[in-house]
Formats: sequence, structure tokens, C-alpha cells
Amino acid sequence: MRKLLTGGIPATRKNLGSNMKNKLTLVGLEIEGDWNIPLLRNAVELSDASLVFSQGKNPTEAPAKANELLAGIDELLGEYDHVLACEATEQSRCVYDYPVPRGHLGLIVGNERNGVPHDILKKVNQVVSIPMLGQGMSSVNVAVAAAIILYVVERDLARKRFRTSTLSHRDIDVLVLGPPDPSELGSLLRSAWAFGWQRLFLNDRHGVWFTKDRQTILAGRAAARGEVNRIVVRPWEQLSLPDYDQIVVCDGTHSGTPLSRFALPDRGKVLLVYGDDEPPLGVRESSERIYVDHCAAKTAPCFRLSGSILLSVISQRLRRSRRG
Ligand SMILES: C[S@@+](CC[C@H](N)C(=O)[O-])C[C@H]1O[C@@H](n2cnc3c(N)ncnc32)[C@H](O)[C@@H]1O
Repeated sequence: MRKLLTGGIPATRKNLGSNMKNKLTLVGLEIEGDWNIPLLRNAVELSDASLVFSQGKNPTEAPAKANELLAGIDELLGEYDHVLACEATEQSRCVYDYPVPRGHLGLIVGNERNGVPHDILKKVNQVVSIPMLGQGMSSVNVAVAAAIILYVVERDLARKRFRTSTLSHRDIDVLVLGPPDPSELGSLLRSAWAFGWQRLFLNDRHGVWFTKDRQTILAGRAAARGEVNRIVVRPWEQLSLPDYDQIVVCDGTHSGTPLSRFALPDRGKVLLVYGDDEPPLGVRESSERIYVDHCAAKTAPCFRLSGSILLSVISQRLRRSRRG
């Protein structure tokens, strides 16, 4: 690997080593937004990876804790056998089709506004992306992207050759239960639109979407990228349960089939229910259970992260009915 431009506090192999427990390290490059730091930490804690931050060419204030070494990108990249940059560009390789090489992998995720700089994209071993199907949506939240890519890479899903269902997005309705706050829901709506859904049903027990409170409305719409996101959010009471041939519930409990092994049916209409709340009557009785099989079962996942992994993996197993 060629040397890259350096910034921030230099790191050496010795001091990096203490922070690297595994063969996968997430590198947050020029991350901004205070809210993204705990989300990235959660994404990493759910997986078997380590986390470091780099301020690249523009060292600003340090977001990292002491054990999340704030390192120069140049020194960091020399530490890995392979470096992947996560970015949705025309040249990117779909992460679901990327067989993971052996060795220590560094995964770079970039700044919320600017992404991973072009000069770095040119120098890494591979640029990988999560397929984006929703018109006008070029990216998902950085921690969401990290969580999905860590999930796919850790399971080496490209080598698992999962069968694609003949169902399309139109055959799968999504019901979201009790999101805890407007930003978590908004970010999940951004993912849902990005991964190909045009509508979604919501049981809004905490009043984070169907509300008159202006601040709540603004927070939710901002996280959803409301200016480009045309997903239609409907109250769950508009669902007609008898319309579904199969109801699949994915909640916080570890019961049922792990998502990585879950096969969709080839016919019928499916209701996919996501959320920690107890499913409403009628959904509960007739459902099949699945769960997002994070590596660290004891870490509580952020709402948006498990939900987005779920929708991305399911979307990947569907026939593509709609693009761009
Ligand atoms: C919000 S995105 C920045 C996108 C930036 N505005 C752009 O269009 O270049 C923040 C980071 O999340 C990651 N990311 C978001 N969506 C992604 C996707 N579909 N595939 C791979 N990485 C993604 C990338 O690392 C990206 O740099």
C-alpha cells in the first residue's frame, strides 16, 4: 500500500497494537457530529472489531477516548493487510459480493458531508458499498453503514451464496414498533428508503413521528433526510393483518432464526415487524421469530443499527423490482 497524506497525532505499530484485539478495525475518518461517535462505538461493540479515529488531513478536535487512538491516516493504513473504504461510488464493489481476504482488515468510513476523500479512495485495496436503491438517497448514516458492513464482512456473506427470493420489495411490508426517539426512527427511515422500501407502517407509542411537537418533527425529518426521502409512513392501524401470508418478527430477544441464516419464502405477502416493543395482538400469535445475530450478544444495539442491518440484508435477498 502506498503511503497516504498524514494528519493528526502520529501512531506507531506499538501503540496501535494495544487497541487492536481482532482482525478487523473500523477507522472513523474525519467524523463529525457528536451523535455519531457513540453510534460508531455501538456498531463496533456489536461486532468483533476495534475502533480508531483519524482526523486525516484536517486535524480538529479529538472525538476519541484514550483507547480509541487518534491517529494519522498514513500511519494507520500501514497497519493493515487490506484496507477497504466504505463509500457508495460508481466504481464501488457491492459488499455482499466481496469475499473477505485473510489478514487484518481496516475499514474506513468517512465524514457525513464529504465522505472518504478521493485521494484515499484511489489508494485503498477496495472500495465497497451497500446497495442504494432509493431515488435521490446517496448514502445512509455513517454508523449505520459501519454496522452493516461490519456485519456482512464478519460473516463473509459473499462466500455464503444466499439464495435470492422471487419476492420483491412490494411483497414485504415493514412495521416498526415503538422507536425510542425521532432521530433513531428518522435514520431508520433513511435506510428503509435507501434500501428500496416506498412505505412503512409505524406503531408510534412514544410519539416520535405522529406528533405536533415542532422540535420532534424537525429532528425526525432531518435524520430521515426528508428533502430526498419520499417514504410514506402510515399508522400501524391501517395494516390489514389477514392480507399477510407470513408475519416475521425481529425484536431484541435472541429467539428464532438468526438473520444471517433466514431464508425468505418465494411466494405470498410478508409482514416484517421490527422493534423492541411487544408486538400488538394478532401479530404476536401468528408470527415467526428472527433476530439480528450480532457478534456480541450482550451489547444493547441502537435502534437504527439493528433495524438497518435487518432491512439491508432482507433487501439483498429480494428480487430487484425498482431502481434509481
Ligand atoms: C453520510 S455518508 C457521506 C456521503 C457523502 N455526503 C457523499 O455523498 O460522498 C458518511 C459515510 O458513511 C459511509 N456510507 C454511507 N452510505 C454508504 C453506502 N451506501 N455504502 C458504503 N458506505 C456508506 C461512507 O463511509 C461515508 O463516507
